[in-house]
Amino acid sequence: MENKIKRIAVLTSGGDAPGMNAAVRAVVRTGIYYGLEVYGVMRGYQGLIEEDIFKMESRSVANIIQRGGTVLKTARCKEFYTYEGRKKASETLQKRGIDGLVVIGGDGSFRGATLLGQEFGIGCIGLAGTIDKDIAGTDYTIGFDTAVNTAVEAIDKIRDTADAHDRLFIVEVMGRDAGYIAIYSGIATGAGNILIPERKTDMESVIAFLVERERRKKLVNIIVVAEGDEFGGANEVAKYVKERLPNIDTRVCILGHIQRGGSPSALDRLIASRMGYHAVESLIHGRHNVFIGILNNRLNYVPLDSIGKQKGHINEEWIKIMKVLAY
Ligand code: F6P
Repeated sequence: MENKIKRIAVLTSGGDAPGMNAAVRAVVRTGIYYGLEVYGVMRGYQGLIEEDIFKMESRSVANIIQRGGTVLKTARCKEFYTYEGRKKASETLQKRGIDGLVVIGGDGSFRGATLLGQEFGIGCIGLAGTIDKDIAGTDYTIGFDTAVNTAVEAIDKIRDTADAHDRLFIVEVMGRDAGYIAIYSGIATGAGNILIPERKTDMESVIAFLVERERRKKLVNIIVVAEGDEFGGANEVAKYVKERLPNIDTRVCILGHIQRGGSPSALDRLIASRMGYHAVESLIHGRHNVFIGILNNRLNYVPLDSIGKQKGHINEEWIKIMKVLAY
């Protein structure tokens, strides 16, 4: 294998996602396997600016594949939005002769990596690490599968208590502007309604659906709401339902950050390991300023500067399935 580069660095940035540790481990171990020096940067771009960087060994990543969070810690770094901030970050890398940087994060982190490449010639590779699955060009993002499973486990428990009391529960899940966690967890838990930002929320049809359910004595009900839904979150939906249907015993549950924690699923560990391995191979082959996605089980190298939100592209099939199965 051709190998012109000698040193690489890896960081995690933005919201943490389960499986980030597995990706860090894969980058470090693959780099060392190919004879590279590998550096870890603490707290994402903030650590790059503050020179919080250290050499990693194979054992630095022992016993982390199963852990949630990120051993490199993460941050959303305001200073990196400025040219001056990015200049300081690039100097940290240049000072140490680092030839390539692996950025594990979401679309905001990729935009930062794009600028590092364009303004200072730093070769970056992105790995999609976000529970939101809001990046076009990949079927998977590291952390999404675990987050969905966490939401499913929680909603199953909510269903037990909903059943015991014949209640309606309105459950809010994360996802920022994307409805993937909502649609996947909602279908997997048999939710009656799933409200997502990619579709206009028609509250009248939600009310009609609840009335019809009541008529058919289907009293247990779960509505899953994506936090980014344009009508509002679970509290707004509950307020509307309570005003219109005061006889329905309605409760709200906002799942929040539990969706970001916990041991990564096997799938997240696998895709993180695969993406991390290929990130280093790419750098070695001189391919950078791309992020590595997986589409139809094949690697997909997407130019970092073409990053766009996947919003609006939820497969219509899921919407249809949700409607048919909820009846
Ligand atoms: O992007 C991941 C995510 O968990 C979103 O789903 C959510 O909107 C946001 O981050 C929450 O961010 P913070 O941890 O800064 O509250």
